[in-house]
Amino acid sequence: LKISTKSGTRNKTAPLLHGLFFEEINNSGEGGLYAELIRNRAFQGSDLGDGGAGAIPWALSLAAWKAIGGAVLSLDLLNPLSENLVTVLKVDIPATATGEVGFLNEGWWGMDVRPQDYDASFYIKPNGALYKKNVTGVNISLRSAVTNDIWATTRVGISQNISTTKFTKLEAVLTPTAAAPSSNNTFAITFDAAEAKGQTFYFDLISLFPPTFKGRKNGLRKDLAEHLISLNPKFLRFPGGYNLVGSSIDNRWNWKKNIGPLVDRPGRAGNWGYWNSEGLGYLEYLEWCEDMDMEPLLTIYAGYSGDLSGVTPAHTVPVDELQFYIDEAIEQLEYAMGGPDTKWGSLRTQHGHPDPFNIKFVEIGNEDWFSDSYYWRYPLFLEALKAAYPNITYIASQATEYSPANRNVTIPPGGMWDLHLYQTPQYFKDNFNFFDNWQAIAGYPDVQIFVGEYSVLGRDRAGGIDWANGEGRFKYPTTIAAIGEAIFALAMERNPHVVTLSSYAPLLQNFNRAQWTPNFLAFTADPSQTVLSTSYYMQRMFSHYKGTETLPIVNTKGEFDPVWWHASIDTGSANRIGDAEVDSTRYAQGNIYVKLVNAAKQPAPITLSFDTAITKVNGTILHHDDEFGFNYRNNATAISPKTFDLKQAAIGNRGMTVKYEIPGLSVVVLELKQS
Ligand code: AHR
Repeated sequence: LKISTKSGTRNKTAPLLHGLFFEEINNSGEGGLYAELIRNRAFQGSDLGDGGAGAIPWALSLAAWKAIGGAVLSLDLLNPLSENLVTVLKVDIPATATGEVGFLNEGWWGMDVRPQDYDASFYIKPNGALYKKNVTGVNISLRSAVTNDIWATTRVGISQNISTTKFTKLEAVLTPTAAAPSSNNTFAITFDAAEAKGQTFYFDLISLFPPTFKGRKNGLRKDLAEHLISLNPKFLRFPGGYNLVGSSIDNRWNWKKNIGPLVDRPGRAGNWGYWNSEGLGYLEYLEWCEDMDMEPLLTIYAGYSGDLSGVTPAHTVPVDELQFYIDEAIEQLEYAMGGPDTKWGSLRTQHGHPDPFNIKFVEIGNEDWFSDSYYWRYPLFLEALKAAYPNITYIASQATEYSPANRNVTIPPGGMWDLHLYQTPQYFKDNFNFFDNWQAIAGYPDVQIFVGEYSVLGRDRAGGIDWANGEGRFKYPTTIAAIGEAIFALAMERNPHVVTLSSYAPLLQNFNRAQWTPNFLAFTADPSQTVLSTSYYMQRMFSHYKGTETLPIVNTKGEFDPVWWHASIDTGSANRIGDAEVDSTRYAQGNIYVKLVNAAKQPAPITLSFDTAITKVNGTILHHDDEFGFNYRNNATAISPKTFDLKQAAIGNRGMTVKYEIPGLSVVVLELKQS
């Protein structure tokens, strides 16, 4: 491979190429990245099948709650906490009760307990008719689910004059002195039966937070957030995905319902079959971007809901009502970007974030290629949004491909198209050239591509992915999945004028429940059980070792396959955008990065020749002998990047050549230093 460093032959790389796509799926947020430890905190349901989407209230349920000491737990709809949180827990304490009596929450399949502060809060109201004004408090505790161990406990006082007509919010901090041996723990609220017997209490919005990422109140689970930031992500696409649309128009992801105090957030039945508390709401997403130095990429509702499989989706907003949703999107942008003197900007200020955010990317809808009306609805949104916010890049969710009525969307110059690909390794190999002349072939000059969702979904098979039966579908990303994705990522990297953004999907999966596999990271309540996948490691290598300019490579000995490659050069940290931390050794001016993928099982010897002298070569390799190998619990780093230094002897001809044998089934980044 001949690599030229001549200045006239280089192009700027896409500075924001690698980012994140998050939606509520697989308990990615609920019981995942959203740090709330209490499952079903407002008794609206939690489990798959708790109820049916669309029913109101969707799925009242005592899921994850259990009685202690003979307390009788039931759901109550007559004592709402707020207009939006109408179901509460009724705790009847029998007149015969003795000792400790109350209830516990099992968490999201357990709770991680370690010596740190846990912020507990809950709303309580005694039943006036039965209240004896003698209860002095409740005990809250973190305790083992399997032994009698109590890891932390504290008493929360109750005033004798506590209201019996309105709920009172009580708060306390629990601080265990040691880590529990496992995450098989619960959170309990108990009374002393001697005081409370024969009485009834109502509870709601019971919450427990460990310390969060960057200390945000109502924030993100620290360990998972740290795994995400170490990907060096440049943008965050949210809130979906399919979870944007809702089972019905009313049930869409509606930003006005997921901002402000938690008591005012009704939550919704998510599109993936479980309740979304929406504690992780619009403002929290924006703050997440701020905390990870990522550009927000907002998908806005485009008027399609329900089953999206037909050209006429189950619920489509009629054209004469569309303006309402266009206005709602403009208001959504004002909430994020408006000054404190604007209507929605002032609400954001009230919610604790006076400084406006800067949204540079907005996607109109999600995967609207099923529809035969997007081609005329998209311009309606586009024109109105552009008039209000001209500096945003607007992304169409449908373009040339897949349009059933063959009515291509007209994406104007400067616009973008969001391409989604869940495919086989062979597909990504076959489509390595997809972007090369895309703008000319597709007839979209000056339109760029956002590969908003991509992953190797399963193994190669005749006919491609088996969507109907899931045959060959991976449960977890495999060696060959990372290789397929790496090949496609190279295809993107060598076309930085076409592909400027990309994100793997889906991002996160709770091991206890998944509607979609494979996923980037899988986790449980216990941070030590988190598994970073082959795909995750591949992207981490690619996003860290990305130069600021491409370098052309000429292969003197044939074509790509089974080896693929791309090279870039670093022109210095000043040219890097938004890196969380700029490491001056890694990003030293003049560093050349050569990415190599060998999809064959056999090693492939290569010689790299340069027009500049190379003095040192460090490498990082992701390799495994089994193409279907994957990382799993207790063997979580089986397939993970290893670093190496190339022996000086490999560098020949006074630094002008480098010899390297790429092991079979591997993704490699060589970091070459010039003197
Ligand atoms: O990533 C899972 C789903 O795949 C997304 O919600 C949707 O956009 C796509 O079909």
